[in-house]
Amino acid sequence: LRPTHRLLSCPGTVAADAKREEQSSRSVETGSEDRTPKKKFSEVQKERREQAQRTVLIHCPNKISEKKFLKYLSQHGPISHHFFYESFGLYAVVEFCQKESVTSLQNVTRTPSMGTEAAIPFKSRFFNLKLKNPSSQTSEKSSIPCSNHSPPSSKKLSELLCYAESVDDQLNTLLKEFQLTEEDIKLRYLTCSLIEDLAAAYFQDCTVRPFGSSVNSFGKLGCDLDMFLDLDEIGKLNTSKTSGNFLMEFQVKNVPSERIATQKILSVIGECLDHFGPGCVGVQKILNARCPLVRFSHQASGFQCDLTTNNRIALKSSELLYMYGALDSRVRALVFSIRCWARAHSLTSSIPGSWITNFSLTMMVIFFLQRRSPPILPTLDYLKTLADAEDKCIIEGHNCTFIRDLNRIKPSGNTETLESLLKEFFEYFGNFAFNKNSINIRQGREQNKPECSPLHIQNPFETSLNISKNVNQSQLQKFVDLARESAWILSQEDKDRPSPSSNQPWGLAMLLQPSVVSSVSLAKKKRRKPASERIKNLLESIKSHSPENDTDTNGK
Ligand code: GTP
Ligand code: MG
Repeated sequence: LRPTHRLLSCPGTVAADAKREEQSSRSVETGSEDRTPKKKFSEVQKERREQAQRTVLIHCPNKISEKKFLKYLSQHGPISHHFFYESFGLYAVVEFCQKESVTSLQNVTRTPSMGTEAAIPFKSRFFNLKLKNPSSQTSEKSSIPCSNHSPPSSKKLSELLCYAESVDDQLNTLLKEFQLTEEDIKLRYLTCSLIEDLAAAYFQDCTVRPFGSSVNSFGKLGCDLDMFLDLDEIGKLNTSKTSGNFLMEFQVKNVPSERIATQKILSVIGECLDHFGPGCVGVQKILNARCPLVRFSHQASGFQCDLTTNNRIALKSSELLYMYGALDSRVRALVFSIRCWARAHSLTSSIPGSWITNFSLTMMVIFFLQRRSPPILPTLDYLKTLADAEDKCIIEGHNCTFIRDLNRIKPSGNTETLESLLKEFFEYFGNFAFNKNSINIRQGREQNKPECSPLHIQNPFETSLNISKNVNQSQLQKFVDLARESAWILSQEDKDRPSPSSNQPWGLAMLLQPSVVSSVSLAKKKRRKPASERIKNLLESIKSHSPENDTDTNGK
């Protein structure tokens, strides 16, 4: 719980204080969740951004002494954190305690001479470390521990899941294996910070912020890096401090619309990334899309990046998802499993198309958790009623206000297990009236569909929009069929679970195997044969399940 004195110390009217007191009394804790105070999204973002600004990325020779390397860099100031990783070579991420150390390092760094090619002398925070005398140092033993930021192979995952103790344990294992590591998150913020340096060459004081699954707590290792160029703060800095009768404005160029301004800015940044950005390759300018973007690959970090601009609503959506992910420990475990399940059955894809996106799937899980009795997650409207004056947020005319202090939201009293929630999720959406109802996390209840798209999930902030407008009827039907089959598998599983030592996939491991789920579909179709044939099959199945024959656990 946020201490009451902090609540009351906020400036405001008596009425506002009374409202806050009432809110704090509503936040009486009942659940068994972790009580350590949780940071606000904006606090996390600010802290990570500041860390990234005093961090450098260094491509290192393969054989290197970690001790000598750190000693060499410490000449520029103390180092607060560092790690190595491999990605077509050895890289080091070095976080200094002070920003000045980076400038000091840049001041002793030279631009390479390239022989027949020519170097563009751009001074970035991405360096190449060379050995002065390679032959004397190659004999040094390199035993640098490298952090790993690739997801587990499907074989390894399957093994881990088979040996888990329960379905709940399986969901938590999957979360642990796929969630972004501390190092991966640091590298994501660093990559944005490096791109910000480039953009700042044109737009002084701009900010490049990560959003989407890199920051909303639902990112899987290897997910893309969504970032946006925030130009909103430019020129707003000291306006209140000026005195006198005059107001000074920058002379600017005007263009006919916000969209054209976005396209022009992204076009020039795209060129800049392509021509001067160290390690930025495969730059594509996708400027005619609904949301214009520049897509590129940041080779050294291995991230596929999507850069947009003016995307404050998407950042607010990321904050909302981060809140939902932090409110109850079951949320992320369930979302990760559903995302992996959807990927395993090709319901989602990295290529845009008429399929469901991870963002839509996350909304579906949140909605489902709002529908439990008692609810596991509060509605967005409820989070809005808890907001105070500082939380107020209007973006482009859309009310994006909700409480941002997680510690003031009452945990749920719902005690359902992950196993039961997974099964219920599949049952709920396997039988959802998609033809007439829309999914709406703002109100936490079904609404009549305002338009005829097969799947309608209301955009939580731009409420007239459907975030799943791209999904066609056949993709939705595929989702429904797979959900029904998965619910069926889980209900059969309860009765007949193999022992962990048998090494047979079970529970979540079984749901992640496309061949198993589709064989259920076949089996179910077979069950629809004439009664005489069904009885014959049943007799055969009883025979094959007699003790001497009892090895087949999949043939349900
Ligand atoms: P990944 O599949 O792991 O990348 O998930 P993601 O949440 O990052 O999704 P994606 O990269 O497709 O989009 C990034 C962010 O843009 C999302 O988190 C949303 O905030 C926003 N976004 C994506 N799709 C839509 C959409 O259809 N409508 C709106 N309003 N926002 C969207
Ligand atoms: Mg993304």
